[in-house]
Amino acid sequence: MATVSMGEGDWRLSEMANGMERSRILTIAASVRAMIADGKEVAPFTVGDFSPDQFEVPDELLTGIIDAVSEGETNYPPAAGLPELRESLSEWMKQKYSLDVGPEGIIVGSGARPVLYASFRLFLEPGDGLAHGVPAWNNHYYVHLNDAIDIPIAGTPESRFLPTAESIEARIKEIRVLILNSPLNPTGTCFTRDELSAICEVVLNENQIREKEGRKPVILVYDQVYSTMTAEHIEHVHPVQVCPEIFDYTITLDAISKSLTGTGLRLGWMALPPALAPPVIALIGHMGAWPARPIQKAAAKLYAKPEILEEYFRDLDQRIAERMIALQSGLSELSEYGVSFVEPEGGIYLTTRFDLFETLGVTTNEEIRQWLLESAGVAIVPFQAFGLEDDTGWFRISVGAVSVSEIIAAMDRLESALMTEFGHEPHA
Ligand SMILES: Cc1ncc(COP(=O)(O)O)c(C=O)c1O
Repeated sequence: MATVSMGEGDWRLSEMANGMERSRILTIAASVRAMIADGKEVAPFTVGDFSPDQFEVPDELLTGIIDAVSEGETNYPPAAGLPELRESLSEWMKQKYSLDVGPEGIIVGSGARPVLYASFRLFLEPGDGLAHGVPAWNNHYYVHLNDAIDIPIAGTPESRFLPTAESIEARIKEIRVLILNSPLNPTGTCFTRDELSAICEVVLNENQIREKEGRKPVILVYDQVYSTMTAEHIEHVHPVQVCPEIFDYTITLDAISKSLTGTGLRLGWMALPPALAPPVIALIGHMGAWPARPIQKAAAKLYAKPEILEEYFRDLDQRIAERMIALQSGLSELSEYGVSFVEPEGGIYLTTRFDLFETLGVTTNEEIRQWLLESAGVAIVPFQAFGLEDDTGWFRISVGAVSVSEIIAAMDRLESALMTEFGHEPHA
């Protein structure tokens, strides 16, 4: 997977530390920020973050945080999370996704990352297989941190870049943990009921065989941090909704980072069969990776009011949709220049292809990325940053930090740059 290595390393450090990599996405985003600071007109389609100027967290959450601080809620929270928060999150997940782990099956962390890390530590021994789709967000860092064997499962445009049951089945014997993400970062695509149910079948069949042989099962880690963000005609599906028997083998990850646009507030959680919870609680406690007490207090109140949340989600989906419509209409105009996209289904991402290799006389996605940035002020991330190594012209566009008018302006700049490069206007 393409990442930026931290150099040769330092003899004083462990192998793990020397092998640690920086996020390629964040490296690109930092260079884009520098261009904007220099006064260049650039649309920042790079980061999976929200600009607070474009997307606000719910008022109730902010008031709740301020109230909690004023009331002196400043001491250590319990390692698993405040009981009222575990209660309201478990009830919310039960109502919304038919996932009933009870309050004792909910463990909170400072964002999705600590609980993601904990969910791998729970199951993986060094040398165990960690399978994930590609393109996908950041999984290979966790492969490294756990000394696991990387099992990348490549998606294709035909599968909307999602891993399929067939491609998972082909590697199932080697898999100890399978992580799935829907809506998927970076592609903005979601599993349908049928697709997810076929994957659950593959996992359950394999686990039946392993049980007979006394071997450890395949664990499904389901990362649904964008679950509340779906396009109008799309339904988010949780594995237990299509295959209740998968419950015993499923760890669910969620967070307010995306669903409430509160990336900087740091609250995420894991939902798992309660019998598996004690070591996770200890690990989160040892890392001190629990969310601050005021955000826990505020979220506990908000998640106990699903009607306020639903209204917020509806409004957010609407605002994401406005941006996606502007993008799609701009990109559709450019089809004869070799520009195409996959229809967005969820999250804040759109998958687009710039097949400009011949026109620009280049061979890599990186060269296309630089041309888009310099000639059109369009900053996007190539799929190599998400583990898809082929130079086939695929990129992620994120709409979390841009307004509709910025998108329209960026599409105009792009059209002019392409017209200049191709030497003609698009045909009607
Ligand atoms: C699919 C996915 N999972 C997890 C995370 C991490 O979320 P958090 O910021 O809550 O740690 C991200 C962040 O971009 C993500 O895209």
